[in-house]
Amino acid sequence: MLQRRTKYKHVHTLWIAGLLFLLINGCAKDEGPFIVKPVKLPGDTLLSLTTDIQPIFDSHCIRCHNQSHPFLDLRDGYSYNQLLYTGHLAPYVDTVNPENSILVGRLRGVEYPIMPPDGDHLLPATIDSIVLWMAEGARE
Ligand code: HEC
Repeated sequence: MLQRRTKYKHVHTLWIAGLLFLLINGCAKDEGPFIVKPVKLPGDTLLSLTTDIQPIFDSHCIRCHNQSHPFLDLRDGYSYNQLLYTGHLAPYVDTVNPENSILVGRLRGVEYPIMPPDGDHLLPATIDSIVLWMAEGARE
């Protein structure tokens, strides 16, 4: 009889552990960041990194974010993979909630420190185009 009771207790513990596991993992999944890639249609006008965003990095970022930056290389030919996959905190983009992305957070100064750190910050309209690029699926 005593043994039976102990057995039941054990089953309870398993259930609670299982529920906790689901709860924690379920929440973590909802937090993003998310990358959802759109289907490319012929002749579409979606923004792309190479054409629309790289010029911003070239003129405002790569004097620091080059091969000698420890976290993030934003040079042409490297920036895409760094931002989506290989940079220190990748992904820096969030196509579902661009404003929650690390990249936009740093540009708006929502995340500290604002980029570029030494002044010459991007105009709101320029940041908006980076947001649009992400919302359109962060195409290469
Ligand atoms: C004057 C040098 C300089 C310029 C210009 C600059 N950055 Fe940075 N950036 C840094 C340094 C240094 C760090 C790492 C320390 C930190 O997070 O503050 C950094 C960190 C970052 C990070 C976080 C990287 C990580 O993994 O923690 C992002 C994102 C970023 N920069 C984006 C940009 C963008 C986009 C631009 C251009 C609009 C830019 N930065 C311009 C120096 C610069």
